[in-house]
Amino acid sequence: MSDHPRAPQAPATPDVSASPDIPAQSSPPCYAAEFPGYFGETAEGPDPETIERLNALLEAERAGARVLAILRDGLDSRSPVRAVLERLQKDEGANAVALYKTIQRLGGVASHDTGAFVQKTLAIDGLAARLQFVNKGQAWVVRKIEEVLPRVPDEVARAMLDDMRQSHIDNIAACGALLLEGLDN
Ligand SMILES: [Fe+2]
Repeated sequence: MSDHPRAPQAPATPDVSASPDIPAQSSPPCYAAEFPGYFGETAEGPDPETIERLNALLEAERAGARVLAILRDGLDSRSPVRAVLERLQKDEGANAVALYKTIQRLGGVASHDTGAFVQKTLAIDGLAARLQFVNKGQAWVVRKIEEVLPRVPDEVARAMLDDMRQSHIDNIAACGALLLEGLDN
């Protein structure tokens, strides 16, 4: 016979019968390493926001190439203005190809869309006003390249973007010179 009254017995362990085989664990396992890029990390895959920004540039260049082809084709083959637009159009097309290949090489999915710039430009009356709008679009591209450059660690991609930036600055000047000379032809 005991001298002490027995305290009510609590079960020695929690009821484990419901999950006898699951080892104790403070948090679920992390599978992030199996999905590079999923959480936006840059070490193992492309940063989604950088790819999005490069795709916005790709769509803008594709639109620029298309609208400049339309404006070029509306001019007489002997027009000096046509020769300038021809050069600008080739640059835009080459930029679109370079961006497409770069996005793919970085592991991103390249857009197949064309920016709304084509319709916006063609909604404007007159070649001079359209080219002024093209130049505004080109200046937008320069700003967007400058914004994305610090996000791009790949040196080849950075060099491509820097060339694209410089060619835009040159083409803005060429288009501006056309507008200053007047567009009678
Ligand atoms: Fe452009």
